[in-house]
Amino acid sequence: MGELQILPMESAHLLQLHKAEIACFNAPWSISTLGDVLLNPNGVSLAAFLGEKLVGYGLMLNMEIVGESEIINIAVLPEYRSRRIGDALLRALIQRGEGKISLEVRASNEAARALYMKHNFVAKGLRKEYYKNPTEDAIIMWLEVNGEKT
Ligand SMILES: CC(C)(COP(=O)(O)OP(=O)(O)OC[C@H]1O[C@@H](n2cnc3c(N)ncnc32)[C@H](O)[C@@H]1OP(=O)(O)O)[C@@H](O)C(=O)NCCC(=O)NCCS
Repeated sequence: MGELQILPMESAHLLQLHKAEIACFNAPWSISTLGDVLLNPNGVSLAAFLGEKLVGYGLMLNMEIVGESEIINIAVLPEYRSRRIGDALLRALIQRGEGKISLEVRASNEAARALYMKHNFVAKGLRKEYYKNPTEDAIIMWLEVNGEKT
């Protein structure tokens, strides 16, 4: 299948991205929302490819004005998990982040929380009942400016 490559996505990847989003989330984003992210000039849209196959992706917004970035989505196809692809995607996003980087994660999402903690993100806040289906708190995590980039 070839080496894992982390590459920027283009509009041509939108259908593969949407298929992966559906495979990874209960309430997937629509194709038009994902298309908007790909076209956003402040967006960082990376995918993990094994050969031609998109096996994971990471989306981030760089908010230049405030000098902060927000990771808005990261996912790996179920059958490709636990092969350090999430690690590679998160590392690539962090390298492209501006200043402090934040993200939100479901309280029960232990795999994602462990991934973020491994990369030095720290839980700093809570949004009560932020997620629906099922209703659940969001944990807000930050990577401090002087936090080590892994
Ligand atoms: C979270 C997710 C992206 C991890 O991707 P992955 O490629 O399987 O993760 P990796 O193999 O790179 O693992 C990296 C680290 O994440 C953590 N981790 C990954 N899977 C884990 C699990 N099932 N349980 C606990 N920790 C886990 C570990 O710290 C791991 O490091 P280690 O291997 O040194 O222990 C993947 O589980 C996923 O796509 N989940 C569904 C989508 C999602 O919830 N995204 C997050 C939205 S906020």
